[in-house]
Amino acid sequence: MAKPKSRYVCQACGSVSSRWQGQCPDCAEWNTLVQESAPVANIFAAKHNLQGGGRVVELVGLDAPSALPERVVSGVAEFDRAIGGGIVPGSAMLVGGDPGIGKSTLLLQIGAELAKAGRSVVYVSGEESAEQVRLRAVRLGLGKAPVRLAAATSVRDILTTLGGETPDLLVIDSIQTMHSDLIEGAPGTVSRVRASAQELVRFAKERGTAVVLVGHVTKDGSIAGPRVLEHMVDTVLSFEGERSHQYRILRALKNRFGGTDEIGVFAMQGAGLAEVANPSALFLTQRGEAVSGTSVFPAIEGTRPVLVEIQALTVRLASGATPRRAAVGWDSGRLAMILAVLEARCGLNFASAEVYLNVAGGYRLSDPAADLAVAAALVSALSERPIASDCVILGEIALSGEIRPVAHGPLRLKEAAKLGFEKAWVPSGVKAADGIAVAGFANLRALVDHILGR
Ligand code: TYD
Ligand code: MG
Repeated sequence: MAKPKSRYVCQACGSVSSRWQGQCPDCAEWNTLVQESAPVANIFAAKHNLQGGGRVVELVGLDAPSALPERVVSGVAEFDRAIGGGIVPGSAMLVGGDPGIGKSTLLLQIGAELAKAGRSVVYVSGEESAEQVRLRAVRLGLGKAPVRLAAATSVRDILTTLGGETPDLLVIDSIQTMHSDLIEGAPGTVSRVRASAQELVRFAKERGTAVVLVGHVTKDGSIAGPRVLEHMVDTVLSFEGERSHQYRILRALKNRFGGTDEIGVFAMQGAGLAEVANPSALFLTQRGEAVSGTSVFPAIEGTRPVLVEIQALTVRLASGATPRRAAVGWDSGRLAMILAVLEARCGLNFASAEVYLNVAGGYRLSDPAADLAVAAALVSALSERPIASDCVILGEIALSGEIRPVAHGPLRLKEAAKLGFEKAWVPSGVKAADGIAVAGFANLRALVDHILGR
């Protein structure tokens, strides 16, 4: 067998050179090239026999049942949904998120559910002592779950301690606290994080243990290296939410074994994360008497409808000062566009008013289908005419003022009807759904006239 050639890998961008250089030829960072003997590709290549002399197999000849990974249902339905139906044995997952968002809590709960179902689970914390993790588990009401806890920061120690064992799930909290003796360096540096992850991913592939790596993401991107890890794992999940709001969304950013269009919704409560099977209830504030400046938009997350409330406030300015425009949970560029269309096509005047737009519950909307609901909230705020509280609004606004149809119309209306909404303002041409009366609008002016009672 040929002696493996040594190669030099940039620890900042991952580019490979055949000789050492002071500066990386790709990303121009200095002193980032480190000699590595085993190519990274070996983990995958060895497992999948990519080095079998370039042998060609027929796609149709592959044994279908064994090619389909059998998933392990974790018992936390929202988590299973986000990853595509359950945990794939031997897969490596990365769960990223801001510090304090609830990653440790989530994984402890998932581990406990699996352990209660008779699976073997090892939870390694590099941030807290085993006693602290145990206390947290007791507080979460999971004290009886047979999860094995360890406090360790050395990957070698962890793998040695596991010996020949193959737990069903191994949680590493967090990958930034781990170090591998293959590489020296300060804790949390890219090279160390990468080397540790590499060993753990290899363990997952060789033993068939599902490994979850927890990774902190810093606000300004990723000093600590999760970006580098994204290429090494099978699934990248992001745990998001505003810390001041209780809801949390688990989203798949990359998934080798499923789609990335489903989300899991949780609420952070006194006793840990609660699954939210009906997210609409979370984002709608108490709907009672209609107030001006609010509208409801039926959003779609993955294949699930979520009703969200949009709130607008306009404040007339006396002097000629430049009015403020602020949007929370909605793109401010798109807010400016809708205001411009309302002014240019519908003759409304927002020029001397400050405009604030807020999506309730800390939810973030990026779907252009919400344009019409945003416009309606703005018109309602400016005119102080409330929109009926049993009405949902959807439609995309073109610069011409035309209202365009949107995807998943029937699904959105069905969810609205289920939650007791009786009316919908929609792009003209959308068919009525069961239990909900639709009013179609061809352009924005027609909607403005309707709200103003003209
Ligand atoms: P944690 O899981 O430690 O976050 P991460 O691992 O992502 O850094 O959770 C941190 C926050 O969650 C903590 O500030 C308080 C809150 N929390 C609750 O509100 N209820 C609970 O039961 C728990 C365990 C945490
Ligand atoms: Mg933590």
